[in-house]
Amino acid sequence: MRPRHPRSLSRRPVGLILAAALATGTLWSCGSPSATPSLSTSVAASATPSPTPARPSAETSPSAEMAPSASSQVSPLRDIAGNRLIGTAAELPQLDTDPAYAAILAREFDSVTPENSMKWVSVEPAQGQTNFSAADKIVAFAQAHGQKVRGHTLVWHKQLPAWLTDGTFTPTQLGDILKNHITLEAGRYAGKVYAWDVVNEVIADDGTPQVDLWSKGLGPGYIADAFRWARAADPAAKLYINDFDIEGINPKSDAVYNLVKSLRAQGVPIDGVGIQAHLLLQNPFPVGMADNIKRFTDLGVEVAITELDVRMPVPATAAKLALQADYYRQVVAACTAAPKCVGITVWGYTDKYSWVPYSFPGEGAAALFDQNLAPKPAYNAVLAALTAGAH
Ligand code: XIL
Repeated sequence: MRPRHPRSLSRRPVGLILAAALATGTLWSCGSPSATPSLSTSVAASATPSPTPARPSAETSPSAEMAPSASSQVSPLRDIAGNRLIGTAAELPQLDTDPAYAAILAREFDSVTPENSMKWVSVEPAQGQTNFSAADKIVAFAQAHGQKVRGHTLVWHKQLPAWLTDGTFTPTQLGDILKNHITLEAGRYAGKVYAWDVVNEVIADDGTPQVDLWSKGLGPGYIADAFRWARAADPAAKLYINDFDIEGINPKSDAVYNLVKSLRAQGVPIDGVGIQAHLLLQNPFPVGMADNIKRFTDLGVEVAITELDVRMPVPATAAKLALQADYYRQVVAACTAAPKCVGITVWGYTDKYSWVPYSFPGEGAAALFDQNLAPKPAYNAVLAALTAGAH
């Protein structure tokens, strides 16, 4: 088993090491991931294939790739990040079938979020027939590598099983179904998941409440109920509301802010706000991200960046990759500026398995590492920004 990285390592010399590395050019700035450690622990074969399969074709133009280098990285991200967790989404089958992918994941990150395996469609595809095998394997992988697990997600209007979306239920039945789901899943992983995205994407783009199966069937109180049920099932986990397009100050983040404030005032057990941070290079960087994080933490909750990626129209070019690196840098800087911004998770660390090309045709190259598992300029930008912000 690979030993956990001593946190004390991250506190002292990394800034000096990084500065020296930048000066001498030994920073892991280009090319293939050298010195990939072998995995002593692997996961067994996947039972639940990821909806995002490996991408067979290159989307990054060769001219945009960095030249290979024999140098190795200064230090994994997880050693640099200080008290903050640096995480990635992860999935089967690649965690099992791609040792190089798994090795970098183990080396660089100290938090893992199952990308799909804890979603309702994955864990209860037929009513009453649960399948936690893929989620269990990801949890086992994380534990074997000294990594924490973010649970994602208990209540969402997407990736629900057909028996649920197509079924007809009374409000009482639907409430029982939701309570049982939360109780079962959060209970199963109590002590193994350090934070749960309890509710995901419950505010619409214009800042109004999401109209979906849950709000229509149960009324707005389902959100408070979900947090209470999650707390009862796992008293120790940090309980989050999670959403996208709430990076800057805008009508949607205002709505999430007001919702969190109201839930806190009612004594609902909500501990954190997850800012997904699926950014587009063709959009300006979100306005006021640091101020936005601060206003949330001023409510008494913590904040985490939960699904960071920065997509772009493909093919990538050196100029786009440089701008992308700056977006990543700005996100890390906004988080490290806030003492209660407790972690940054990227939504898949490599373009090899990124969800972006499937969900947004014509866009891609969104991750820190390219399709060959080589670090991109964004990797070094994150490394430098974490170093600057570590405390
Ligand atoms: C995405 C996964 O990455 C894809 O593999 C899947 O096909 C769809 O869902 N916001 C979320 C995540 O909260 O659960 C989504 O994950 C991305 C957007």
